[in-house]
Amino acid sequence: MTDLDTLLLGPADLAKVAKMLQSGQLVAFPTETVYGLGADARNGSAVAAIYAAKGRPSFNPLIVHVASMEQAEALAHFDHDARALAQAFWPGPLSLVLPLKDGHGLSSLVTAGLDTVAIRMPAQLLARDLLALADCPVAAPSANPSGQISPTTAAHVLAGLSGRIDAVLDGGPCKVGVESTIVATSPLRLLRPGGLPVEALNAALGSPLAEDTNPDTPSAPGQLVSHYAPNARVALNQTDGAFMLGFGAVNGQLNLSPSGDLHEAAANLFAMLRQMDELASDTDTIRVAPIPMTGLGLAINDRLTRAAAPRLG
Ligand code: TXA
Ligand code: MG
Repeated sequence: MTDLDTLLLGPADLAKVAKMLQSGQLVAFPTETVYGLGADARNGSAVAAIYAAKGRPSFNPLIVHVASMEQAEALAHFDHDARALAQAFWPGPLSLVLPLKDGHGLSSLVTAGLDTVAIRMPAQLLARDLLALADCPVAAPSANPSGQISPTTAAHVLAGLSGRIDAVLDGGPCKVGVESTIVATSPLRLLRPGGLPVEALNAALGSPLAEDTNPDTPSAPGQLVSHYAPNARVALNQTDGAFMLGFGAVNGQLNLSPSGDLHEAAANLFAMLRQMDELASDTDTIRVAPIPMTGLGLAINDRLTRAAAPRLG
């Protein structure tokens, strides 16, 4: 791995960051969900560098970020449902997995050789400005070493990837805090619960979305069972005991949301898992309070279940 001098840049450097992307460099940037590790999705060596920097298995495809519907339609076919969901929820924390269009121009590394592509139009203003300025589709997985906790601040990005990427654009903490919800079409199904609550999708569609979140299914190759893993062990649905990460009335060392607000809990989730991990002694288990399975609770429980899963190797 090459040892790079990773720059910490701010909103005033936006034009510079856009140029870095255009010239094939790796730049982490904020979105409303988590920080992404971006590269020009048409540039094969830039995309290869994403996999190398993260230590990510190359069979796990990347999400392509766009600034406009026009850009998205140049990459993929939108059927009736996909168009309705894009209209209702873009820009926002929703990724759509759609059939690739001929002449899409993306590096085949982005899609890991599949005939579909995951596309997302983020809502965060800096991300939107950056994508518009760079004027290219930007492949961006979460900006963390593969298998570890996703970053919701520029400092988290540097803690995991400093020296392996060219720059981080600091846009402050991410407001949503968990990754985008991923939906595939034909047939329409949920691949990953995330920052857009399933209830909102169901309301827009007028019927409940089928689920397809089985970690072994080839349609969601990145949904590895052990993921978001802190160093300490994690135990879920704990109501008392030492070293607790609380929620609502179940208190602890830290509390994801003392008032029991799932939006606040999602926004705090990854930062608090990191803090608990720093506080933990070798023998501590991070005991997490029960989180209800509604709204963003689906995404929070999904991430926590993976954080608690037995690790490989
Ligand atoms: O909020 C997010 O989605 C963040 C920010 C940076 O946009 N990105 C993110 O990327 O979470 P990543 O790489 O950590 O997760 C991408 C997920 C993986 O589970 C991958 O397998 C799935 O998207 N994916 C990508 N392309 C796919 C495709 N063509 N078919 C099925 N799943 C796909
Ligand atoms: Mg990730």
